[in-house]
Amino acid sequence: MPTVSLNSFKLHFVEQGQGTPLVCLHGFPLNHAMWKEQLAGLSYCYRVIAPDLQGFGQSELATSNSERLTMEQLADDVNALLDVLGITEPIVLCGLSMGGYVAWQFAKKYPSRLKGLIQCDTRAIADTPEGVANRHRLAGLVLENGAEVVSTAMLPNLFAAITSERQQAAISQMRDIIHANSPRTIAAALRGMAERPDVRAWLPQCDVPSLLICGIDDKISTVTEMQEMARSMPRANLVVVPEAGHMAPLENPAVVNAAIVEFIKQL
Ligand code: MLT
Repeated sequence: MPTVSLNSFKLHFVEQGQGTPLVCLHGFPLNHAMWKEQLAGLSYCYRVIAPDLQGFGQSELATSNSERLTMEQLADDVNALLDVLGITEPIVLCGLSMGGYVAWQFAKKYPSRLKGLIQCDTRAIADTPEGVANRHRLAGLVLENGAEVVSTAMLPNLFAAITSERQQAAISQMRDIIHANSPRTIAAALRGMAERPDVRAWLPQCDVPSLLICGIDDKISTVTEMQEMARSMPRANLVVVPEAGHMAPLENPAVVNAAIVEFIKQL
């Protein structure tokens, strides 16, 4: 797995295929492996690049971000990765959930680098005050007791009931990925997500062609919420994925990959 040095830390990523760069940003608190079905199923026609975001997987956490890892910082990392890889052509950026929060920040700050935006199972709204308090409480618990606290809290909400029955191996892989992340990174990302900006008022200005994807049983970023996002964006379409929850690209890759191919074909 290649590594690049970005300012003060090393970032790992996987890269497969050739063609339009399709950069995939993972959710919290996972790593690039959640995109395994897109790496396998889309690299025949795209250059699929899936980084471990700063601090996650095999990427290091810069000392300056050890308290708080903001979504803007993670977007800056993606920009720096493209520079290091010498990618100057516009990319298709695809984020899931936390990766989607990062993708909004990237789209706001680096719009000229984007050919298309794919937002999977993510939100535009900021956390409520109660949500912020919960994130800070969870950050404290993770630092005290380890990453198991967060896998126990999150795993029941990631997969649809139907895929939970069928995809025990994928669930246990996600559990292992969560446990392999450092409590410090998990806590820093929780604090960063807690202060992420509400981007709903900006959505009407996001004029990059966009595909929104949502698992029909997503309990974290619901279909209703993503429908509202799609309605606010001038150039967005929503695809609702059957037999999927919050991890739609992993739970139902056939439908998600077909939607991505169709979207990129029209760009
Ligand atoms: C994720 O899947 O990245 C998380 O659900 C994001 C969040 O906690 O808001």
